Amino acid sequence: MAVSTIILAAGKGTRMKSPTPKILHKIAGQHLIDFSVNLAKDIKSKEIIVVVSDEIEQGAKTALSGGQVKFCSQKSQLGTGDAVKIALKGFKIKSKYTLVLYADTPFIKNNTIKKMISKAEKGFEFIFLGFQAQTKNSYGKFKLGPKKTLIDIIEKNEPEHDTFESLSNSGILLAKSNILAELTEKIRNDNAKKEYYLTDVVKMATKYGYASTYVQCQEDECLGVNSQQELSVAEKKFQDHLRKKLMAHGVSLLSPETCFFSHDTVIKAGCVIEPNVIFGTGVTVQSFTIIRSYSYIEGTQIGKHCQIGPFARLRPGTNLSEKVKVGNFVEVKNASLASESKASHLSYIGDAKIGTNTNIGAGTIFCNYDGKNKHLTVVGDNVFVGSNASLIAPLKISDGSIVAAGSAINSDVPPESLAIARPMQQNKIGFGKKIMLKLQKLTDKIKK
Ligand code: UD1
Ligand code: CA
Repeated sequence: MAVSTIILAAGKGTRMKSPTPKILHKIAGQHLIDFSVNLAKDIKSKEIIVVVSDEIEQGAKTALSGGQVKFCSQKSQLGTGDAVKIALKGFKIKSKYTLVLYADTPFIKNNTIKKMISKAEKGFEFIFLGFQAQTKNSYGKFKLGPKKTLIDIIEKNEPEHDTFESLSNSGILLAKSNILAELTEKIRNDNAKKEYYLTDVVKMATKYGYASTYVQCQEDECLGVNSQQELSVAEKKFQDHLRKKLMAHGVSLLSPETCFFSHDTVIKAGCVIEPNVIFGTGVTVQSFTIIRSYSYIEGTQIGKHCQIGPFARLRPGTNLSEKVKVGNFVEVKNASLASESKASHLSYIGDAKIGTNTNIGAGTIFCNYDGKNKHLTVVGDNVFVGSNASLIAPLKISDGSIVAAGSAINSDVPPESLAIARPMQQNKIGFGKKIMLKLQKLTDKIKK
Protein backbone atom coordinates (compact mmCIF):
# COMPACT_ATOMS: atom_id res chain seq x y z
CA MET A 1 0.00 0.00 0.00
CA ALA A 2 1.37 3.43 -0.95
CA VAL A 3 1.77 5.62 2.15
CA SER A 4 3.35 9.05 2.56
CA THR A 5 4.12 10.39 6.00
CA ILE A 6 3.67 13.77 7.66
CA ILE A 7 5.58 14.35 10.89
CA LEU A 8 4.25 17.19 13.03
CA ALA A 9 7.04 19.10 14.70
CA ALA A 10 6.07 22.76 14.62
CA GLY A 11 4.88 23.01 18.22
CA LYS A 12 6.85 25.41 20.39
CA GLY A 13 7.88 22.85 22.96
CA THR A 14 7.75 25.58 25.61
CA ARG A 15 7.49 23.08 28.45
CA MET A 16 11.00 21.84 27.65
CA LYS A 17 12.22 25.24 28.96
CA SER A 18 15.26 24.87 26.75
CA PRO A 19 16.86 26.99 24.00
CA THR A 20 17.30 23.73 22.05
CA PRO A 21 14.23 22.90 19.94
CA LYS A 22 12.32 19.99 21.45
CA ILE A 23 12.81 17.66 18.50
CA LEU A 24 16.59 18.09 18.65
CA HIS A 25 16.78 16.73 22.19
CA LYS A 26 18.23 13.24 22.25
CA ILE A 27 17.26 9.81 23.51
CA ALA A 28 20.18 7.35 23.62
CA GLY A 29 22.17 9.74 21.45
CA GLN A 30 19.49 10.00 18.76
CA HIS A 31 17.43 13.12 18.02
CA LEU A 32 13.79 12.81 18.98
CA ILE A 33 12.77 13.60 15.41
CA ASP A 34 14.82 10.66 14.06
CA PHE A 35 12.61 8.14 15.84
CA SER A 36 9.57 9.17 13.76
CA VAL A 37 11.65 9.62 10.60
CA ASN A 38 13.02 6.07 11.01
CA LEU A 39 9.53 4.70 11.55
CA ALA A 40 8.35 6.46 8.40
CA LYS A 41 11.28 4.92 6.52
CA ASP A 42 10.66 1.45 8.01
CA ILE A 43 7.11 1.39 6.66
CA LYS A 44 8.54 2.42 3.28
CA SER A 45 6.86 5.81 3.03
CA LYS A 46 6.93 7.17 -0.51
CA GLU A 47 7.57 10.67 0.82
CA ILE A 48 8.25 12.13 4.26
CA ILE A 49 7.41 15.73 5.15
CA VAL A 50 8.31 17.22 8.50
CA VAL A 51 6.24 20.27 9.50
CA VAL A 52 8.43 22.73 11.38
CA SER A 53 8.19 26.32 12.55
CA ASP A 54 10.44 28.99 11.03
CA GLU A 55 12.50 29.15 14.23
CA ILE A 56 13.57 25.52 14.15
CA GLU A 57 13.66 24.91 10.39
CA GLN A 58 17.41 25.54 10.03
CA GLY A 59 18.40 23.47 13.07
CA ALA A 60 16.18 20.59 11.99
CA LYS A 61 17.56 20.64 8.45
CA THR A 62 21.14 20.50 9.72
CA ALA A 63 20.37 17.66 12.11
CA LEU A 64 18.56 15.65 9.45
CA SER A 65 20.76 16.42 6.47
CA GLY A 66 20.70 13.74 3.80
CA GLY A 67 17.97 11.20 3.23
CA GLN A 68 14.55 11.51 1.83
CA VAL A 69 13.08 13.96 4.32
CA LYS A 70 11.50 17.22 3.18
CA PHE A 71 10.61 20.14 5.39
CA CYS A 72 7.61 22.36 5.25
CA SER A 73 7.29 25.47 7.33
CA GLN A 74 4.16 26.37 9.28
CA LYS A 75 4.44 30.11 9.88
CA SER A 76 2.16 30.22 12.91
CA GLN A 77 1.07 27.26 14.97
CA LEU A 78 -2.66 27.36 14.35
CA GLY A 79 -3.21 23.72 15.26
CA THR A 80 -2.66 20.17 14.09
CA GLY A 81 -5.38 20.48 11.41
CA ASP A 82 -3.64 23.49 9.88
CA ALA A 83 -0.24 21.74 10.01
CA VAL A 84 -1.55 18.69 8.13
CA LYS A 85 -3.36 20.84 5.57
CA ILE A 86 -0.11 22.68 4.76
CA ALA A 87 1.96 19.49 4.61
CA LEU A 88 -0.45 17.76 2.20
CA LYS A 89 0.20 20.54 -0.29
CA GLY A 90 3.93 19.80 -0.15
CA PHE A 91 3.71 16.24 -1.42
CA LYS A 92 4.96 15.62 -4.95
CA ILE A 93 3.76 12.02 -5.19
CA LYS A 94 0.08 11.35 -4.61
CA SER A 95 0.12 8.32 -2.30
CA LYS A 96 -3.25 6.73 -1.64
CA TYR A 97 -2.74 6.97 2.15
CA THR A 98 -1.20 9.52 4.47
CA LEU A 99 0.25 8.70 7.88
CA VAL A 100 0.45 11.48 10.47
CA LEU A 101 3.09 11.03 13.17
CA TYR A 102 4.14 13.35 16.02
CA ALA A 103 7.83 14.15 16.33
CA ASP A 104 7.56 14.07 20.11
CA THR A 105 6.09 10.54 20.28
CA PRO A 106 9.15 8.37 19.65
CA PHE A 107 8.14 4.79 20.51
CA ILE A 108 5.35 3.94 18.08
CA LYS A 109 6.03 0.46 16.68
CA ASN A 110 6.21 -0.55 13.08
CA ASN A 111 3.75 -3.37 13.84
CA THR A 112 1.16 -0.96 15.16
CA ILE A 113 1.28 1.04 11.93
CA LYS A 114 0.90 -2.24 10.03
CA LYS A 115 -2.29 -2.95 12.00
CA MET A 116 -3.56 0.50 11.00
CA ILE A 117 -2.69 -0.23 7.37
CA SER A 118 -4.67 -3.46 7.43
CA LYS A 119 -7.73 -1.51 8.70
CA ALA A 120 -7.29 0.86 5.78
CA GLU A 121 -7.19 -2.12 3.45
CA LYS A 122 -10.57 -3.14 4.85
CA GLY A 123 -11.99 0.15 3.57
CA PHE A 124 -11.80 2.62 6.47
CA GLU A 125 -10.91 6.17 5.44
CA PHE A 126 -9.59 7.28 8.87
CA ILE A 127 -7.78 5.13 11.42
CA PHE A 128 -6.62 6.75 14.66
CA LEU A 129 -4.33 5.12 17.20
CA GLY A 130 -5.74 4.99 20.75
CA PHE A 131 -4.79 3.59 24.12
CA GLN A 132 -6.24 2.95 27.55
CA ALA A 133 -4.76 5.60 29.84
CA GLN A 134 -4.11 4.58 33.44
CA THR A 135 -4.64 8.05 34.88
CA LYS A 136 -6.86 11.04 34.19
CA ASN A 137 -5.27 13.11 31.44
CA SER A 138 -5.61 15.83 28.87
CA TYR A 139 -5.67 13.66 25.76
CA GLY A 140 -8.47 13.78 23.25
CA LYS A 141 -11.05 11.02 23.87
CA PHE A 142 -12.55 8.60 21.37
CA LYS A 143 -16.33 8.74 21.01
CA LEU A 144 -17.24 5.31 19.68
CA GLY A 145 -20.08 4.07 17.53
CA PRO A 146 -21.09 0.48 16.85
CA LYS A 147 -18.55 -2.11 15.66
CA LYS A 148 -15.45 -0.18 16.74
CA THR A 149 -16.30 2.79 14.58
CA LEU A 150 -15.15 6.21 15.65
CA ILE A 151 -17.71 8.99 15.46
CA ASP A 152 -15.84 11.87 17.11
CA ILE A 153 -12.78 12.81 19.14
CA ILE A 154 -13.47 15.11 22.07
CA GLU A 155 -10.62 17.43 22.97
CA LYS A 156 -9.67 18.40 26.51
CA ASN A 157 -11.22 21.86 26.37
CA GLU A 158 -14.57 20.72 25.06
CA PRO A 159 -17.39 20.50 27.62
CA GLU A 160 -18.13 16.83 26.88
CA HIS A 161 -14.54 15.78 27.70
CA ASP A 162 -15.04 14.84 31.34
CA THR A 163 -18.49 13.33 30.95
CA PHE A 164 -17.48 9.86 29.76
CA GLU A 165 -14.70 7.30 29.89
CA SER A 166 -13.08 6.02 26.73
CA LEU A 167 -9.80 5.37 24.96
CA SER A 168 -7.35 8.26 24.67
CA ASN A 169 -6.16 9.58 21.32
CA SER A 170 -2.44 9.20 20.64
CA GLY A 171 -2.79 11.64 17.73
CA ILE A 172 -1.30 9.18 15.23
CA LEU A 173 -3.54 8.91 12.18
CA LEU A 174 -3.64 6.95 8.94
CA ALA A 175 -6.05 8.42 6.39
CA LYS A 176 -7.02 8.18 2.76
CA SER A 177 -5.08 11.09 1.27
CA ASN A 178 -7.67 12.68 -1.00
CA ILE A 179 -10.36 12.62 1.69
CA LEU A 180 -7.95 13.94 4.32
CA ALA A 181 -7.14 16.82 1.95
CA GLU A 182 -10.83 17.47 1.34
CA LEU A 183 -11.76 17.50 5.04
CA THR A 184 -8.75 19.42 6.40
CA GLU A 185 -9.85 22.30 4.14
CA LYS A 186 -13.16 22.36 6.02
CA ILE A 187 -11.76 22.37 9.58
CA ARG A 188 -12.76 25.50 11.53
CA ASN A 189 -11.27 26.93 14.71
CA ASP A 190 -14.55 27.62 16.49
CA ASN A 191 -13.46 25.97 19.74
CA ALA A 192 -12.19 27.03 23.15
CA LYS A 193 -8.53 27.14 22.05
CA LYS A 194 -9.24 28.79 18.69
CA GLU A 195 -7.14 26.05 17.09
CA TYR A 196 -7.65 24.02 13.95
CA TYR A 197 -8.04 20.53 15.42
CA LEU A 198 -7.00 17.67 13.15
CA THR A 199 -9.25 15.47 15.26
CA ASP A 200 -12.28 17.34 13.85
CA VAL A 201 -11.94 15.25 10.69
CA VAL A 202 -13.67 12.41 12.53
CA LYS A 203 -17.01 14.12 13.02
CA MET A 204 -16.81 15.54 9.51
CA ALA A 205 -16.12 12.06 8.15
CA THR A 206 -19.23 10.84 9.97
CA LYS A 207 -21.20 13.71 8.42
CA TYR A 208 -19.97 13.06 4.86
CA GLY A 209 -20.39 9.30 5.05
CA TYR A 210 -16.76 8.23 5.44
CA ALA A 211 -15.78 5.50 7.88
CA SER A 212 -13.44 6.00 10.82
CA THR A 213 -12.06 3.42 13.21
CA TYR A 214 -9.15 2.93 15.57
CA VAL A 215 -6.33 0.60 16.51
CA GLN A 216 -5.42 0.21 20.17
CA CYS A 217 -1.88 -0.04 21.52
CA GLN A 218 -0.21 0.00 24.93
CA GLU A 219 -0.03 3.36 26.71
CA ASP A 220 3.76 3.37 26.94
CA GLU A 221 4.04 3.06 23.17
CA CYS A 222 2.38 6.50 22.96
CA LEU A 223 4.67 8.08 25.53
CA GLY A 224 5.11 11.73 24.59
CA VAL A 225 8.01 14.03 25.39
CA ASN A 226 6.87 17.49 26.51
CA SER A 227 9.23 18.29 29.39
CA GLN A 228 12.73 17.47 30.58
CA GLN A 229 11.18 15.10 33.09
CA GLU A 230 9.31 13.24 30.35
CA LEU A 231 12.51 13.17 28.30
CA SER A 232 14.25 11.42 31.19
CA VAL A 233 11.39 8.90 31.43
CA ALA A 234 11.73 8.22 27.70
CA GLU A 235 15.51 7.82 28.06
CA LYS A 236 15.05 5.34 30.91
CA LYS A 237 12.51 3.32 28.97
CA PHE A 238 14.71 3.22 25.88
CA GLN A 239 17.81 2.26 27.88
CA ASP A 240 15.89 -0.64 29.40
CA HIS A 241 14.92 -1.73 25.93
CA LEU A 242 18.54 -1.55 24.70
CA ARG A 243 19.84 -3.51 27.71
CA LYS A 244 17.26 -6.26 27.27
CA LYS A 245 18.03 -6.46 23.56
CA LEU A 246 21.78 -6.87 24.20
CA MET A 247 21.25 -9.53 26.86
CA ALA A 248 18.84 -11.38 24.58
CA HIS A 249 21.65 -11.47 22.02
CA GLY A 250 24.16 -13.04 24.39
CA VAL A 251 25.94 -10.06 25.95
CA SER A 252 26.57 -10.33 29.72
CA LEU A 253 25.72 -7.16 31.63
CA LEU A 254 26.73 -7.56 35.26
CA SER A 255 24.65 -4.63 36.42
CA PRO A 256 22.48 -3.61 33.46
CA GLU A 257 20.86 -0.57 35.07
CA THR A 258 24.26 1.09 35.56
CA CYS A 259 25.33 0.85 31.91
CA PHE A 260 24.14 3.27 29.23
CA PHE A 261 24.05 2.58 25.52
CA SER A 262 23.40 4.53 22.33
CA HIS A 263 20.71 3.78 19.79
CA ASP A 264 23.40 2.42 17.46
CA THR A 265 25.62 0.50 19.91
CA VAL A 266 26.60 -2.93 18.53
CA ILE A 267 28.02 -5.50 20.97
CA LYS A 268 28.46 -9.09 19.88
CA ALA A 269 27.59 -12.23 21.85
CA GLY A 270 30.12 -13.40 24.40
CA CYS A 271 31.17 -9.92 25.51
CA VAL A 272 31.07 -9.00 29.19
CA ILE A 273 30.24 -5.46 30.29
CA GLU A 274 31.02 -4.70 33.91
CA PRO A 275 29.03 -2.12 35.90
CA ASN A 276 29.09 1.61 35.12
CA VAL A 277 30.17 1.66 31.50
CA ILE A 278 28.91 4.34 29.09
CA PHE A 279 28.64 3.92 25.34
CA GLY A 280 28.35 7.07 23.24
CA THR A 281 27.33 6.82 19.60
CA GLY A 282 29.21 4.85 16.95
CA VAL A 283 30.59 1.93 18.98
CA THR A 284 30.97 -1.65 17.77
CA VAL A 285 32.43 -4.39 19.97
CA GLN A 286 33.24 -7.84 18.55
CA SER A 287 32.73 -11.05 20.53
CA PHE A 288 34.54 -12.18 23.71
CA THR A 289 35.71 -8.72 24.66
CA ILE A 290 35.48 -7.57 28.25
CA ILE A 291 34.80 -3.94 29.13
CA ARG A 292 35.64 -3.25 32.73
CA SER A 293 33.93 -0.76 35.01
CA TYR A 294 33.90 3.00 34.59
CA SER A 295 34.95 3.04 30.96
CA TYR A 296 33.56 5.71 28.59
CA ILE A 297 33.54 4.71 24.93
CA GLU A 298 32.40 6.61 21.82
CA GLY A 299 33.04 6.43 18.07
CA THR A 300 35.17 3.32 18.55
CA GLN A 301 35.59 -0.09 16.89
CA ILE A 302 36.79 -2.86 19.18
CA GLY A 303 37.83 -6.31 17.95
CA LYS A 304 37.49 -9.79 19.48
CA HIS A 305 39.07 -10.83 22.79
CA CYS A 306 40.08 -7.32 23.85
CA GLN A 307 40.30 -6.10 27.43
CA ILE A 308 39.25 -2.53 28.07
CA GLY A 309 39.46 -0.60 31.33
CA PRO A 310 38.69 -0.26 34.14
CA PHE A 311 38.59 3.53 33.74
CA ALA A 312 39.46 3.58 30.03
CA ARG A 313 38.41 6.47 27.81
CA LEU A 314 38.05 5.58 24.13
CA ARG A 315 37.24 8.60 21.97
CA PRO A 316 36.11 8.89 18.34
CA GLY A 317 38.37 7.35 15.72
CA THR A 318 39.69 4.59 17.98
CA ASN A 319 40.14 1.28 16.23
CA LEU A 320 41.33 -1.76 18.17
CA SER A 321 42.07 -5.10 16.46
CA GLU A 322 41.93 -8.46 18.22
CA LYS A 323 43.39 -9.19 21.67
CA VAL A 324 44.27 -5.57 22.34
CA LYS A 325 44.53 -4.37 25.91
CA VAL A 326 43.74 -0.80 26.94
CA GLY A 327 44.00 -0.53 30.69
CA ASN A 328 43.21 1.90 33.47
CA PHE A 329 43.45 5.64 32.91
CA VAL A 330 44.36 5.27 29.27
CA GLU A 331 42.79 7.71 26.80
CA VAL A 332 42.81 6.86 23.09
CA LYS A 333 41.67 9.21 20.30
CA ASN A 334 41.86 8.82 16.52
CA ALA A 335 44.29 5.95 16.86
CA SER A 336 44.53 2.31 15.89
CA LEU A 337 46.20 -0.51 17.78
CA ALA A 338 46.81 -3.71 15.80
CA SER A 339 46.36 -7.17 17.31
CA GLU A 340 47.90 -8.07 20.66
CA SER A 341 49.21 -4.59 21.37
CA LYS A 342 48.87 -3.19 24.87
CA ALA A 343 48.63 0.12 26.66
CA SER A 344 47.96 -1.03 30.17
CA HIS A 345 48.26 2.06 32.31
CA LEU A 346 48.05 5.86 32.43
CA SER A 347 48.65 6.88 28.81
CA TYR A 348 47.39 9.33 26.22
CA ILE A 349 47.40 7.93 22.69
CA GLY A 350 46.20 10.55 20.19
CA ASP A 351 46.51 10.49 16.38
CA ALA A 352 48.52 7.29 16.14
CA LYS A 353 48.91 4.10 14.20
CA ILE A 354 50.32 1.31 16.29
CA GLY A 355 51.37 -2.08 14.89
CA THR A 356 50.92 -5.55 16.29
CA ASN A 357 52.37 -6.94 19.53
CA THR A 358 53.64 -3.52 20.58
CA ASN A 359 53.77 -2.42 24.19
CA ILE A 360 53.07 1.16 25.21
CA GLY A 361 54.54 1.59 28.68
CA ALA A 362 52.85 3.20 31.66
CA GLY A 363 52.62 6.96 31.43
CA THR A 364 53.49 7.24 27.73
CA ILE A 365 52.18 10.42 26.16
CA PHE A 366 51.69 10.83 22.43
CA CYS A 367 52.38 14.56 22.00
CA ASN A 368 50.14 15.05 18.99
CA TYR A 369 49.40 18.77 19.23
CA ASP A 370 51.86 21.60 18.69
CA GLY A 371 49.43 24.31 19.70
CA LYS A 372 48.20 24.83 16.13
CA ASN A 373 48.03 21.46 14.37
CA LYS A 374 47.64 17.77 15.14
CA HIS A 375 50.34 15.35 13.92
CA LEU A 376 50.54 11.60 13.45
CA THR A 377 52.75 9.09 15.25
CA VAL A 378 53.37 5.73 13.58
CA VAL A 379 54.64 2.94 15.80
CA GLY A 380 55.57 -0.35 14.08
CA ASP A 381 55.17 -4.00 15.08
CA ASN A 382 56.92 -5.54 18.10
CA VAL A 383 57.97 -2.17 19.51
CA PHE A 384 58.59 -1.67 23.21
CA VAL A 385 57.97 1.85 24.48
CA GLY A 386 59.26 2.17 28.03
CA SER A 387 57.38 3.97 30.77
CA ASN A 388 56.97 7.72 30.87
CA ALA A 389 58.09 8.35 27.30
CA SER A 390 56.96 11.41 25.37
CA LEU A 391 56.53 10.68 21.67
CA ILE A 392 56.58 14.02 19.89
CA ALA A 393 54.71 13.89 16.56
CA PRO A 394 55.14 13.78 13.63
CA LEU A 395 57.13 10.68 14.34
CA LYS A 396 57.83 7.17 13.09
CA ILE A 397 59.12 4.41 15.35
CA SER A 398 59.96 1.39 13.19
CA ASP A 399 59.43 -2.34 13.81
CA GLY A 400 61.31 -4.06 16.58
CA SER A 401 62.62 -0.89 18.26
CA ILE A 402 62.87 -0.03 21.92
CA VAL A 403 62.25 3.41 23.38
CA ALA A 404 63.98 3.86 26.71
CA ALA A 405 61.83 4.83 29.68
CA GLY A 406 61.65 8.54 30.36
CA SER A 407 62.70 9.52 26.85
CA ALA A 408 61.38 12.49 24.91
CA ILE A 409 61.54 11.21 21.32
CA ASN A 410 61.21 13.73 18.48
CA SER A 411 63.05 12.12 15.58
CA ASP A 412 62.28 8.90 13.71
CA VAL A 413 63.61 5.64 15.11
CA PRO A 414 65.03 3.12 12.56
CA PRO A 415 64.07 -0.60 12.80
CA GLU A 416 65.38 -2.69 15.69
CA SER A 417 67.12 0.28 17.35
CA LEU A 418 67.24 1.54 20.90
CA ALA A 419 66.17 5.16 21.16
CA ILE A 420 67.21 6.86 24.35
CA ALA A 421 66.72 10.56 24.88
CA ARG A 422 67.31 11.57 28.47
CA PRO A 423 70.31 12.99 30.36
CA MET A 424 73.05 10.46 31.05
CA GLN A 425 72.96 9.07 34.60
CA GLN A 426 75.97 9.78 36.84
CA ASN A 427 76.78 7.77 39.98
CA LYS A 428 78.91 9.80 42.40
CA ILE A 429 80.52 7.24 44.68
CA GLY A 430 80.17 7.98 48.40
CA PHE A 431 78.08 11.11 47.85
CA GLY A 432 74.92 9.45 49.21
CA LYS A 433 76.47 8.85 52.64
CA LYS A 434 77.99 12.36 52.77
CA ILE A 435 74.67 14.05 52.06
CA MET A 436 72.81 11.88 54.58
CA LEU A 437 75.25 12.86 57.34
CA LYS A 438 75.00 16.53 56.46
CA LEU A 439 71.21 16.38 56.61
CA GLN A 440 71.29 14.59 59.98
CA LYS A 441 73.51 17.30 61.45
CA LEU A 442 71.16 19.99 60.24
CA THR A 443 68.16 18.21 61.77
CA ASP A 444 69.93 17.86 65.15
CA LYS A 445 70.79 21.59 65.15
CA ILE A 446 67.17 22.60 64.51
CA LYS A 447 65.95 20.29 67.33
CA LYS A 448 68.31 21.99 69.81
C1 UD1 B 1 -3.19 16.37 20.22
C2 UD1 B 1 -4.58 15.84 19.82
C3 UD1 B 1 -5.17 15.05 20.99
C4 UD1 B 1 -4.23 13.95 21.41
C5 UD1 B 1 -2.85 14.50 21.72
C6 UD1 B 1 -1.88 13.37 21.92
C7 UD1 B 1 -5.42 17.54 18.30
C8 UD1 B 1 -6.35 18.66 18.14
N1 UD1 B 1 -5.43 16.96 19.49
O1 UD1 B 1 -3.42 17.30 21.26
O2 UD1 B 1 -6.41 14.50 20.62
O3 UD1 B 1 -4.76 13.26 22.53
O4 UD1 B 1 -2.36 15.29 20.62
O5 UD1 B 1 -0.63 13.87 22.30
O6 UD1 B 1 -4.73 17.19 17.37
N2 UD1 B 1 1.86 20.81 16.01
C9 UD1 B 1 2.22 21.44 14.84
N3 UD1 B 1 1.59 22.58 14.49
C10 UD1 B 1 0.60 23.14 15.24
C11 UD1 B 1 0.24 22.48 16.43
C12 UD1 B 1 0.88 21.32 16.79
O7 UD1 B 1 3.10 20.97 14.13
O8 UD1 B 1 0.07 24.16 14.82
C13 UD1 B 1 2.54 19.55 16.39
C14 UD1 B 1 3.27 19.61 17.71
O9 UD1 B 1 4.63 19.93 17.50
C15 UD1 B 1 3.12 18.19 18.24
C16 UD1 B 1 1.81 17.72 17.65
O10 UD1 B 1 1.55 18.56 16.56
O11 UD1 B 1 4.16 17.34 17.77
C17 UD1 B 1 0.68 17.73 18.64
O12 UD1 B 1 0.39 19.04 19.02
P1 UD1 B 1 -0.11 19.46 20.46
O13 UD1 B 1 -0.39 20.89 20.47
O14 UD1 B 1 0.84 18.93 21.48
O15 UD1 B 1 -1.48 18.65 20.53
P2 UD1 B 1 -2.29 18.33 21.82
O16 UD1 B 1 -3.00 19.53 22.28
O17 UD1 B 1 -1.45 17.62 22.79
CA1 CA C 1 0.93 17.21 23.14
